[in-house]
Amino acid sequence: MNLEIKDLWVSIDNEMILKGVNLHVPAGQFHAIMGPNGNGKSTLVKAIAGAPEYTIERGEVLYNGVNVLELEPDERARQGLYLAFQYPVEIPGVTVANFLRLAIQARTGKEVEFMDFYKKLTRALEILDWDESWVNRYLNQGFSGGEKKRNEILQMLMLEPSFALMDETDSGLDIDALKVVAKGVNAMRSANFSALMITHYNRLLEFIVPDMVHIMVDGRIVKSGGKELAVELEANGYEPVKAMAASQPAAAF
Ligand SMILES: Nc1ncnc2c1ncn2[C@@H]1O[C@H](COP(=O)(O)OP(=O)(O)O)[C@@H](O)[C@H]1O
Ligand SMILES: [Mg+2]
Repeated sequence: MNLEIKDLWVSIDNEMILKGVNLHVPAGQFHAIMGPNGNGKSTLVKAIAGAPEYTIERGEVLYNGVNVLELEPDERARQGLYLAFQYPVEIPGVTVANFLRLAIQARTGKEVEFMDFYKKLTRALEILDWDESWVNRYLNQGFSGGEKKRNEILQMLMLEPSFALMDETDSGLDIDALKVVAKGVNAMRSANFSALMITHYNRLLEFIVPDMVHIMVDGRIVKSGGKELAVELEANGYEPVKAMAASQPAAAF
């Protein structure tokens, strides 16, 4: 759905990290944020998720017109926001299948019919080309990096959020795992779903083609464009955009 970030300023330990971020992701679109390390990309995602160590100094994040920054983090999920890194925990004794059922119940507030759940699960596993035995594994216990990422996408397919925030979902994935992840994300494409993907490289965007690419430097979006912007970045590196950012005076808080 429609996500609008308006003049967002966020600090950590009294240091301003985000300095006036403006970004609009309309319903049905996929946007990407790229940028050099340490410039606030993950901070943006975590602030939207409601991580406690991030202080919102100013601004709002409107999701279908509601400022999600004023909601409790679990309420943000109930509103249909999906944060791909939200459940990295190992839960002893909880299988993937049970966790998915509990997560759907928490999101919808309703009991999940077993047959409906099973049908949906079968379809999601098919999209991800994954064996059914997978869901009997204990959540995150001994998962490889690639399996964790793939499991995040399985969760997304099962929870059917209307907006997904993905932070470096491609990091540490080999090309086959990357294609599977992309297949899962692309299967979500619809007029009622939109996504914001943070990535350091163009590789992911070859498989999940974004409607727009934004570049973040020093806590601000310094350039936006179409998918060709990612290709340009790959070719030229980040130095030209860093120089451009340095020449644009930062807004005062
Ligand atoms: N929990 C934290 N405590 C202190 N500083 C942090 C924390 N998280 C991020 N930072 C700092 O905020 C800046 C932006 O980090 P981050 O948002 O992770 O960048 P990116 O994702 O673009 O690589 C960095 O200088 C980083 O050191
Ligand atoms: Mg990061």
